[in-house]
Amino acid sequence: MSYLNATNELYKAAAETPDVGLCCTTNPVWQFPGLSIPKIMQEMNYGCGSTVSAQDLVNNPKVLYVGVGGGMELLQFAYFSRQPGGVTGVDVVDEMLEASRKNFKIAEEENEWFSSDFVKLVKGDALNLPVEDESIDVAAQNCLFNIFKIDDLKKAVSEMYRVLKPHGRLVMSDPTCEQEMSDELRNDDRLRALCLSGSIPIEDYVKVLTDAGFGTIEIRARKSYRVLAPNHYPTDELIHIESIEIAAIKDPMPADGPCVFTGKTAIYYGDEEYFDDGKGHVLVQNQPIAVCDKTAAALAKADPSIHVSESTWHYDGGGCC
Ligand SMILES: C[S@@+](CC[C@H](N)C(=O)[O-])C[C@H]1O[C@@H](n2cnc3c(N)ncnc32)[C@H](O)[C@@H]1O
Repeated sequence: MSYLNATNELYKAAAETPDVGLCCTTNPVWQFPGLSIPKIMQEMNYGCGSTVSAQDLVNNPKVLYVGVGGGMELLQFAYFSRQPGGVTGVDVVDEMLEASRKNFKIAEEENEWFSSDFVKLVKGDALNLPVEDESIDVAAQNCLFNIFKIDDLKKAVSEMYRVLKPHGRLVMSDPTCEQEMSDELRNDDRLRALCLSGSIPIEDYVKVLTDAGFGTIEIRARKSYRVLAPNHYPTDELIHIESIEIAAIKDPMPADGPCVFTGKTAIYYGDEEYFDDGKGHVLVQNQPIAVCDKTAAALAKADPSIHVSESTWHYDGGGCC
């Protein structure tokens, strides 16, 4: 059985018998006016963070969500989109589609603003999306792409790029890992499907996105996720897995390379009123400006009176580019 089939089998079982501990997020359950998330959706939250941010969801966007799970994030997206067919959910596992369909009926009873037809559920594969080119404003996936081996990951990302409109956003939450893992861990299909042994370093993950053509990347959160300890897993050393929330924006690729925001800020503290690098970055004396890593490096070299902070791994808009 291929690792993809093993993944389908695992999520078929997780659809039939909800498994609260399957994935584990430290995110609090949303409390928004008029939004009630059914208990069964919370029990079937198989994500590792959140992909839903109000800043992405202005003007009734068309949303695509790949890997539906119990449907919780699709309901959260529908809260903003509020139109028939505004959110399309794609999943390769029939039982997961069926389970989420039932959960949306419960959500309909608990939320007077919500109608099940706000969400269109479609059987399909992340590696070959049944979605038209350039038809989506916001595409999301939570805790699915980390399962894919590198060639499949590249294919899944290129599919998301294909279906997004120009300037559309791919928003994701996924485990990442900066350490080496043994082949035994990497090739364990069950651990991979459980989002424990497929994750790659943040830099590699970002490169897959920028190689696909996304010109702007925003790392919005970085959190501790799991440890694989030698007393429980086939590893000689303790492995720390993190999770990130990240947005890849289908902006044109800048001539000097992608803008990757990791939460750096520049402050000019020289004797002039402002510092102008002649490339569109004007730093007013002692005013913070969020900068991408590329601009941060250039500014740090350009003038000794510019303080550039470390990455906070929390970026939520504004700034240099
Ligand atoms: C870890 S769960 C995450 C579910 C959901 N995103 C959440 O945050 O709760 C992975 C989901 O992806 C689905 N899935 C697995 N392989 C897939 C594929 N190749 N294409 C589309 N969906 C897939 C599973 O059925 C499951 O719903």
